[in-house]
Amino acid sequence: MSLKKFPQNFLWGAATSAYQIEGGWNEDGKGESIWDSYTHRQHTILNDENGDVACDHYHQMESDVKLMKELGLPSYRFSISWSRILPTGKGEINHKGLDFYERLVDELLRANIVPNVTLNHWDLPQKIQDLGGWVNRDSINWFAEYAQVMFEKLGDRVPIWSTHNEPWVIAFQGYAFGIFAPGIADYSQAYQTAHHLLVSHGKTVQIFRQGNYPGEIGIVLNFSAYQSLGRNKADDAASQRAYDNGSALFLQPLFKGKYPQKLLDWIGCHAPIIKDNDMEIIAQPIDFLGVNYYATQAIGFTQHGGLLKIGAKQISAPGWGTTEMGWGINPAGLTAVLLDIKDNYGNPKMYITENGCALADKPDQNGFVDDRGRINFLREHFLAAYKAIEAGVNLHGYYVWSLMDNFEWASGYQPRFGLIRVDFSTGKRIPKQSAYWYQDVINSNGVNL
Ligand code: FCB
Repeated sequence: MSLKKFPQNFLWGAATSAYQIEGGWNEDGKGESIWDSYTHRQHTILNDENGDVACDHYHQMESDVKLMKELGLPSYRFSISWSRILPTGKGEINHKGLDFYERLVDELLRANIVPNVTLNHWDLPQKIQDLGGWVNRDSINWFAEYAQVMFEKLGDRVPIWSTHNEPWVIAFQGYAFGIFAPGIADYSQAYQTAHHLLVSHGKTVQIFRQGNYPGEIGIVLNFSAYQSLGRNKADDAASQRAYDNGSALFLQPLFKGKYPQKLLDWIGCHAPIIKDNDMEIIAQPIDFLGVNYYATQAIGFTQHGGLLKIGAKQISAPGWGTTEMGWGINPAGLTAVLLDIKDNYGNPKMYITENGCALADKPDQNGFVDDRGRINFLREHFLAAYKAIEAGVNLHGYYVWSLMDNFEWASGYQPRFGLIRVDFSTGKRIPKQSAYWYQDVINSNGVNL
């Protein structure tokens, strides 16, 4: 066996998000978020499930941190529920909500776990949605105000901040395809949302700099590797469009201060309204880019493929299948994504902020899951990251999605992504075999071939 050693100080961790684990959806003064109202509508979520209780982390936070410590987790990425802090999205602060996150951060620091905080993991306050949500330009200032509240409270203690998680998902799944909250299907709203998310990101980075907080700040984007079906030129162009819409739509403004022109031409009247200075604000230098990677897609042209005329097929690397989400497993896609960012966007400091898989876990009578499949998945993806580092990619950490099984958005509780099994009827946590395997990776800072 040979050990592939990662760079010194490489930050290993696991990730969650507020709505997916906390529960306590209306407790201690928390306001409603768009995910509360969306899941409370019928037929939005598989089996009409919701995050009202989820993993009950709001009540089990202390013991969850204890478990992280026992598993030797160096860092924990989580998100803050905006409507727990500002129940109506702006104005009055809910101090009980703030206290919860302060206790969480202090518990983590006491356990020697580096907190990595995401400000917006999709759960916009419903009251802001009532005013148009991200389509309303005022959302830029409302988000920045909320961010400032968090910086003032925790800026002295949190070393890693992200503004948004996966703005593509917010904009398109939420406002174009209508399959995630707020459930709107309107491309113009989607592109305007993407733009406002980016401007609010830039504005928040400016506020962070002005406050001289000691940590670093960045943004988390979702990436796929795209391959053309290659039957003809139309497929190649469609694949380029998928890349432009999925990745360049965010990377180019952030790193080059402009939108991909060909895409803007293609979407025509759906292009966002851009005001003076917006692009400069968006292109504020960031300290790191968060990379979420799950799958590779083969793209072909189809005239039935919506605005972009794109058809996507899940493809897996030879010998690999698909996950429970139906996503094609392709570890080499991760290397490709990282190399693209290195080669075309100036090789920023990066963390992999999410990677993992939902598999059909089979617990034994004690609830223990021997999840060899997940271990194989993670090992191959860690090695794909290792290859990228060898090729010069500026990668500094890796967060597994997810610390524990949780509420997987429109798919409810069926897909299980956790290193830790959660029995949703009792709330009990049981680490899976992958959690112990990950502990060895962390301890040796490397992966055994
Ligand atoms: C990502 C989300 C995360 C989780 C994983 C499976 O898109 O950021 O919350 O649902 O997918």
